Amino acid sequence: PLVAEIAGRSDLAWRVSALLRIPRVIVVEGDADEDAWVTDRIGQAGSDVLAEVLQDGDIIAVTGGTTVAAVAKAMSAKPLRQRITVVPARGTVGEIVAYQANTIASELAAKLGGSSVLLQISDSLSQKALEQLLDDPYIQERLPIIRQATVVVHGVGDALAMARRRHATEEEIKLLEAREAKAEAFGHYFNARGEVVYAMRTIGLRLDDVARARVVIAVAGGQKKAQAIASVANAYRIDVLVTDEGAARRILQLE
Ligand code: BG6
Repeated sequence: PLVAEIAGRSDLAWRVSALLRIPRVIVVEGDADEDAWVTDRIGQAGSDVLAEVLQDGDIIAVTGGTTVAAVAKAMSAKPLRQRITVVPARGTVGEIVAYQANTIASELAAKLGGSSVLLQISDSLSQKALEQLLDDPYIQERLPIIRQATVVVHGVGDALAMARRRHATEEEIKLLEAREAKAEAFGHYFNARGEVVYAMRTIGLRLDDVARARVVIAVAGGQKKAQAIASVANAYRIDVLVTDEGAARRILQLE
C-alpha cells in the first residue's frame, strides 16, 4: 500500500500529512461531493488500512455515516483468524439504518469473523434519561467494552451539515454558529482550533478514550469537509486519514 500511496497523489498526501500533522494520509482520486463512487474508494482504502493494522484481541469502535459504512462494505470476508470485537462508538438511532453505527459494527464483525457488542439507544438523550441509562445493567455491561476500543474508525462531518442531518433544534444550530463549530465527529462538535464547543448527550466513546486507542483512523472526503477535517486534526491524535483529492486540495488552501 505504501508504494501505491507514493506513486499516486503522493505529493498531495505528503503535504496534507505535514500540514495536519497526521502521520499517514491516503488520498484517493476524485471528490466525494461530485461523485458518489469516490466514497466507495475511500471505503476501500480505509478497509485496507484497517485490515493491515488489526491485531488479535482488538476492539474496533466505528461511528455511523456513509463513509464508515463504505469501509465495512469494502472489507472482504476474512476467515476467523483473530479475535476481533466491533462496537458502535456511540448510541445511534437517528440516522437511516444502513448508516447507523450499530448496523456498520455488525456488518464489519461478520466480515472479520469477529463478534459485535451493540448499543441500541438514542444518540441524543435528556439529562435525566442519560443518568438513568448509566445505572442500567445493559449499559453497564457494554459501555466499558466500547470505552476500551483499541482501534477507532470514524467519519468527520461539517458541523452545521451534521447538526441539520441529526434534526438539531434551531437553538442548537444557533449555539453551534455562535461558537463557530466547524466539525463534528462521534457526537462532538469542534471549532477550527479543535476545541470541543458542544457535545451531544449520549453514551459511548469519549475523547479521552480516543486518545488511548492504539490506532485512530478518520475517513472523510469531499471539498466541503476540508475545514472539518482540519479542525478535528487539531482536536485529537489521528494516525491515519483517508480522504480524497477534493478535500485534500481544499485543505491545502485553508492556510
Ligand atoms: C456520523 C458520525 O454518523 O457520520 C460522525 O458519528 C461523522 O462521526 C458523520 O461526522 C459523517 O457522515 P458521512 O455520511 O458524511 O460519512
